Amino acid sequence: MSMKIPFFNNKHSEESLYYPEDNTPNHIAIIMDGNGRWAGKRGMVRAAGHKEGVSTVVKIVNAAVKCKVKVLTLYTFSKENWKRPKTEIDFILRLPKEFLQIYLPELISNNVRIEVIGDMENLPTYTREAVQYAIDRTVDNDGLQMNIALNYGSRHEILHAMKEMITDINNAKLSLDELDERQFSGYLYTAGMKDPDLLIRTGGEKRLSNFLLWQLAYTEFWFTDVLWPDFTEKEFLLAVEEYRKRKRRFGGI
Ligand code: FPP
Repeated sequence: MSMKIPFFNNKHSEESLYYPEDNTPNHIAIIMDGNGRWAGKRGMVRAAGHKEGVSTVVKIVNAAVKCKVKVLTLYTFSKENWKRPKTEIDFILRLPKEFLQIYLPELISNNVRIEVIGDMENLPTYTREAVQYAIDRTVDNDGLQMNIALNYGSRHEILHAMKEMITDINNAKLSLDELDERQFSGYLYTAGMKDPDLLIRTGGEKRLSNFLLWQLAYTEFWFTDVLWPDFTEKEFLLAVEEYRKRKRRFGGI
């Protein structure tokens, strides 16, 4: 049982952070927003914000490991992000490779398993190969599962799932009469994973941006104005702390 002690002491030192042990979210999904604004405020190019965002990713993955979170799903590149200038797209799609080149050993030593959710087909080879290598190298790890949402869009995911499902129904592999929510979930990129317990969105916007629309049906939401590059372990723990206080009723009373 965790002791009821202040969240962090008044010196706000990193050592004083409190990692709760009970009633913590199993699955946390994060919309990492605000990189561009972070850079703009400093007169820097947007790419600098994305780069700084990678440092935050490392901190938050480590914090999630310490909190014994089981699954962390990070919205890294959406289907809609293809509308951005080509230079920015290229930069973002190179980040997984850069991130993994530097941090894969640390992730492995923390027993992290890497997964990708999204449409891998239309990604550049360097992105696909880098994440596939990390998936293969971490497949036997049984600590935190880190899902990198890449070229992900929830409506696309649902449509893709429906097409596969209908094919299975037509081939008599699945019965329409017996089809239920659990079976449908098995066709999504998140097949086999529990739905997120907590969604965090940084950067001040309060929308889902086509992220995990099916999976977030009963998820608790936590929004902050803090821009992703400024987001710290302390804020992450604040979100976890607030989640722990919420009463989840799943439609009951
Ligand atoms: C949204 O901020 C952020 C993105 C579209 C990219 C997120 C990517 C990272 C944080 C790097 C992650 C890397 C790995 C390897 C997991 P925005 O650009 O929309 O910011 P703005 O709203 O301020 O313009």
